[in-house]
Amino acid sequence: MLDFLKNEGVSPKIISEIEAFRAKYPTDGKLASRVPVPRYLYYGKEVWEEAITALLCGENLLLVGPKATGKNVLAENLAAVFARPSWDVSFYINTDAATLLGTDTFHDGEVTLRKGPIYQCAEFGGFGVLDEINMAKNESLAVLHATLDFRRAIDMPGYDRIALHDATRFIATMNYGYAGTRELNEALASRFVVIDMPAITTEGLVKLLIREFPDLKPAWADQLAGLFQDIQRKCDGGELSTKPLDLRGLLAAVRLMHAGLEGGRALELGLVNKSFDGFERQLVSDVIRTRLPEQISAGDVFN
Ligand SMILES: Nc1ncnc2c1ncn2[C@@H]1O[C@H](COP(=O)(O)OP(=O)(O)O)[C@@H](O)[C@H]1O
Ligand SMILES: [Mg+2]
Repeated sequence: MLDFLKNEGVSPKIISEIEAFRAKYPTDGKLASRVPVPRYLYYGKEVWEEAITALLCGENLLLVGPKATGKNVLAENLAAVFARPSWDVSFYINTDAATLLGTDTFHDGEVTLRKGPIYQCAEFGGFGVLDEINMAKNESLAVLHATLDFRRAIDMPGYDRIALHDATRFIATMNYGYAGTRELNEALASRFVVIDMPAITTEGLVKLLIREFPDLKPAWADQLAGLFQDIQRKCDGGELSTKPLDLRGLLAAVRLMHAGLEGGRALELGLVNKSFDGFERQLVSDVIRTRLPEQISAGDVFN
């Protein structure tokens, strides 16, 4: 991972500080399986430098941005870079203190605490990924206030107050920009430094495509990245909604082409059909037609 950061152009000073952090907080052998081995790598030097610097300074991070801007990929990559065990918590409307911190259970006739993910992060110096934190009710997250601010503690009624391990960090993610997304209240937001996640660059997308599909022809990697940029521009200009601007969908389409599905149909499944409005679907099809040939076979696209 550190070599990858060097390649991405992250400053040597930052990399040596990560090495110092890792030396200071070596991974506990029992928890080694909780240190992520990332499936995807995050591309974007500026965001890398901001995120790493904030975590080195002891801050918690809130990654805010539209869908498929690599928020979860970055969160997972960060735990890997810092070699910390990580816990993922998906937030939903009914997320409450018990889900996060733990619940009393009966065991051999005794009441014991079944520790929740936040509790374990606190104990073991974990990285806690608070996924889509804005989906929970703000009131039920008040239990995290002391955990996330300078107090760095968990206070559960009936239990000792426990202090967070020095290596513990929290990385929250939050989507915005489509129906159903909620606001995060100020009290909670003020406990994080916030990174506004940019869309992947064309250069980053070409790297991502080639890494995912090593036999993809370079000219096609450029064309597909260009297509994504075309859709992005139409979204920025207000001609298209963000529904067809779907990087996951583009990757799925390329996967389908690889499996032998004709390219136009693959792009329909991955991108065009994400929109449920006839007019918009036509517009997306036109964008695709303008850039790519009518018929696309796997032989054209892959070596
Ligand atoms: N900057 C980026 N670098 C690498 N991959 C990215 C980037 N932005 C988006 N992706 C890709 O987009 C897909 C979705 O990423 P994910 O982290 O799940 O998005 P989010 O949590 O923001 O919705 C993944 O396949 C990921 O590799
Ligand atoms: Mg996500």
